[in-house]
Amino acid sequence: MSYPYQITSFEQYQADYQKSVEDPEGFWGNVAENFEWRKKWDKVLEWNFTEPRIEWFKGAKLNITENCIDRHLSTMADKPAIIWEPNNPEERVRVVTYQRLHKRVCQVAQMLTNNGVKKGDRVCIYMGMVPELAYAVLGCARIGAIHSVVFGGFSAQSIADRLYDAQAAFIITCDGAYRGDKVIPLKSVIDDALIGNRTIKKVIVYTRTRTPVSMIKGRDIWWEDEMEHAEHQIEKDGKVSFPAAEMDAEDPLFILYTSGSTGKPKGVVHSTAGYMLWTNYTFVNVFQYKPGDIHFCTADIGWITGHSYIVYGPLSAGATSLMFEGIPTWPDAGRFWDIVEKHKVNCLYTAPTAIRSLMSFGTNPIQGKDLSSLKVIGTVGEPINEEAWHWYDENIGKKRCPIVDTWWQTETGACLISNLAGVTPAIPSWASLPMPGVQPILVDENGNENTTADEHGIIKGNLCIKAPWPGILRTTYGDHERCRTNYFDTYPGLYFTGDGALKDAKGNYRITGRVDDVLNISGHRIGTAEVENAINMHSGVVESAVVGYPHDIKGQGIYAFVIYNGHHNEESLTRQDINLTVSKIIGPIAKPDKIQFVTGLPKTRSGKIMRRILRKIAEGETVNLGDTTTLLDPAVVEEIKNGRV
Ligand code: WT7
Repeated sequence: MSYPYQITSFEQYQADYQKSVEDPEGFWGNVAENFEWRKKWDKVLEWNFTEPRIEWFKGAKLNITENCIDRHLSTMADKPAIIWEPNNPEERVRVVTYQRLHKRVCQVAQMLTNNGVKKGDRVCIYMGMVPELAYAVLGCARIGAIHSVVFGGFSAQSIADRLYDAQAAFIITCDGAYRGDKVIPLKSVIDDALIGNRTIKKVIVYTRTRTPVSMIKGRDIWWEDEMEHAEHQIEKDGKVSFPAAEMDAEDPLFILYTSGSTGKPKGVVHSTAGYMLWTNYTFVNVFQYKPGDIHFCTADIGWITGHSYIVYGPLSAGATSLMFEGIPTWPDAGRFWDIVEKHKVNCLYTAPTAIRSLMSFGTNPIQGKDLSSLKVIGTVGEPINEEAWHWYDENIGKKRCPIVDTWWQTETGACLISNLAGVTPAIPSWASLPMPGVQPILVDENGNENTTADEHGIIKGNLCIKAPWPGILRTTYGDHERCRTNYFDTYPGLYFTGDGALKDAKGNYRITGRVDDVLNISGHRIGTAEVENAINMHSGVVESAVVGYPHDIKGQGIYAFVIYNGHHNEESLTRQDINLTVSKIIGPIAKPDKIQFVTGLPKTRSGKIMRRILRKIAEGETVNLGDTTTLLDPAVVEEIKNGRV
């Protein structure tokens, strides 16, 4: 497979960028010619950001799995699509060729059909990082069912909320998942999530850990049994087939829940054709993928990074995608480097938090590991500090691999701002240049473009995007108005990212972090309101306020200020009680790193919590707290300052 739309020089980047802005329909229409369509589009793009309504490749028909699998079979049937590295390095590696992937995905499609799943149904997937997770995702896409993958670290309550919001009728899960030396009992979490649920008809359970499970008659079925049955049905005359559903370009492909500044996560909806094009185009260009390369994205498929750069981007490009079940620090902190050596990985794509965590072990775990196969290394999820960038560059890329710093979001589907490996310059801690088709703009509070540079030629502002790219979200599930108010209403006519950014005189962007009430903990997005709601669920709590603070490894840590009620004191309501509550309501990833018990919170006369002050205190600032004269009770600030943890 070759990629006629791969950008190979800086000049070509500039030319393509220009074309994409001047004639988006011509530009993306050309790129789209490289995909497999049942029927081509009537119109490349129709849009307005007011409703918002965004339609790419209107009228076109396709199935994304034919693009990710079937079209590669004539030339690449025996090439590895997925290489699976298990949690335990002693366990056998699994190599899934495109041929085998085709069979498995057809089987899943047949299995789902046998169990009553239809086009448009929502299927929740709650699994560990096993190849079956990829088969499940693609099996849904093959029949046009909408997958909603939920990360294995979310609690039963979080799953229950997501099942309800999506009105899901089916679940695919595992008995358990391995994570380092732990076993996570996934099916048991699902059982808890299903108490009181009225929409789920079937739960399909894949056996991974042999963790004891309770299988409920009529509802719970084994993946293995169902797949065996399906295998006979899809094989005819020595051939394997399961016809892919014909989907509209704009049919939803999946829902992925993500946090915002309100208490309730929203279901970001991605379309079929636009998302496919965007993940493929950015995969091929940012990483400069060459056929035969081994691409190792360390994310979990429970997050957007895994959707786009383990499954859809690489597979639609006929690439070999390495899927890793474990964690970077088990059995030891050399795990990533062992994998790179063992599989001769060419591209490693990970997160700043992982880099910083591995940095803390020093360079011993890297000694003697052959990393010479690496050509490109990448980062995503949060701003990368310069120290981590240089450590990555020197110790992993050995100063010969370009680092791509890829900025994007769940809502953007795939990268929006990033250098292209070896093609456009890498600048430490700068995401750098926009992809073709992406038109960033920095605005002030009132939505006016900031054009005044400081003495270093830098412009500052809130990062917005002026026009749609193919992979932009289309709606938030079941609540289009929420999509409008969240992203398109703050600055009318623009998509607002929620991030602040700097721009230099050459047009490079540096992302400075969220400007809303969203935290980025180890590259995972968590809303402060969501954590506060969870803490407030505890009967001993009156009120709480949550802010972020700088954390050496996680990037940001969670700092909670908690007021307990009259019947409690610090002995009867402990930090563990609060942590347990947050784990039950959201999941262990949202547990506060620091909890301070307080008797009051700094509020304005109108009752609004002044987070600015709390944020400063959490950051360790005790002198310059800014203006506190509008506070209802300024004395509370002294108490909070003195009680810092
Ligand atoms: C937020 C999106 C993109 C997939 C993983 C996270 C932050 C992401 C970068 C980067 C600086 C970054 C932003 C963004 N972010 N990548 N390269 N440099 N910040 O997806 O959970 O939707 O979070 O992550 O703040 O808004 P997400």
